Amino acid sequence: MANVLIENLVKIYPGSGGPDVKVVHGINLEIRDREFMVLVGPSGCGKSTTLRMVAGLEEISGGAISIDGRVVNNVLPKDRDIAMVFQNYALYPHMTVYDNMAFGLKLRKYPDVEIDARVREASAMLGLDAYLDRKPKALSGGQRQRVAVGRAIVRKPKVFLFDEPLSNLDAKMRVSTRTEISKLHARLGATMIYVTHDQVEAMTMGDRICVMKDGHIMQVATPLELYNRPANLFVAGFIGSPPMNFFRGTLQTDGHALRFVETNNEEAPVAIVLDERLSALGRGHVGQPVVFGVRPEDVQDATTVAHPDPGRTIEVTVEISEPMGAETFLYLTTGANNFIARVGPTDRFESGQRVKVTLKLENAHLFNPATEQVL
Ligand SMILES: Nc1ncnc2c1ncn2[C@@H]1O[C@H](COP(=O)(O)OP(=O)(O)OP(=O)(O)O)[C@@H](O)[C@H]1O
Ligand SMILES: [Mg+2]
Repeated sequence: MANVLIENLVKIYPGSGGPDVKVVHGINLEIRDREFMVLVGPSGCGKSTTLRMVAGLEEISGGAISIDGRVVNNVLPKDRDIAMVFQNYALYPHMTVYDNMAFGLKLRKYPDVEIDARVREASAMLGLDAYLDRKPKALSGGQRQRVAVGRAIVRKPKVFLFDEPLSNLDAKMRVSTRTEISKLHARLGATMIYVTHDQVEAMTMGDRICVMKDGHIMQVATPLELYNRPANLFVAGFIGSPPMNFFRGTLQTDGHALRFVETNNEEAPVAIVLDERLSALGRGHVGQPVVFGVRPEDVQDATTVAHPDPGRTIEVTVEISEPMGAETFLYLTTGANNFIARVGPTDRFESGQRVKVTLKLENAHLFNPATEQVL
């Protein structure tokens, strides 16, 4: 059993000459027993700082961190029963793979038999048996990363912490190591906290994802909840590639429904008749500015739709067409807003061509531009 509870956690760095800087603003997060929790967000949002406070490598300026119900604010890193894997591996260059993995246990005075059993178990799990006598410099980046993971595994910690462990690997290696870590999580049944700035890594690995921005938590949810029900504009734009399209406009009444009308486009403002769900959500915002969000896969080439709804079909201009093989990304413009459609691989388009696209509204969203929250 190991859950990690983060309560009102604050980090303030003393300013060098200038004022102090607050980089974590009182965050609250519970990582459940055996959960794979991903902290994701843009560079500088406070992910590493948060993880290092859990590890005990960084002093806590306010709030509390508990592991299994015990507040660890003043517990030394070595006594927290956690193991951390860093981006730069931090292996000892003069030691063999075996000794790198064994070292932490030797320091803790484990019996040699126990150390050997644990190193061999981890080595087998990670496919390192053939490399146990090598020094780190004779290993590939992926192999070094596995040694770093192995060094964490032999400790049998309550909680594993990973800080961007894959970012030094090439794209292919990143994908395969990502899968290995996910399998390892399933096999060890351990609690893991994993930091990355890569939303694809977050989506594919996390049981739940905590999206951070500027030292604040923007949303904590499962990958698909984040994708389908983003709480705010930041999460909506951060999760998903290509990102969600946003249109700025206002809401007007249209019979029983509401209509979204694009602003900043005097010539031919795009107008979309909203469905029942969106109309209900927008009811209190008639006449007010809103942001309408729709994902690229919900922008369909109208000629491929059986009976395109005229209220949801708009005529726009193709700027660029990018064939990706399995699909084509169409960069479109209404004149005032640029947006992206993800269409079939066989559809052919020319730059400058006028096309009709139909919007699917089941997963579309309305946001309040002032608060940036979803309606
Ligand atoms: N020792 C320090 N003194 C002052 N400010 C610091 C210190 N360490 C980090 N910071 C600041 O704290 C903020 C959060 O840093 P942190 O390393 O946690 O970001 P991150 O989310 O891990 O980013 P990245 O994705 O680039 O690793 C940044 O603005 C950073 O400049
Ligand atoms: Mg970092």
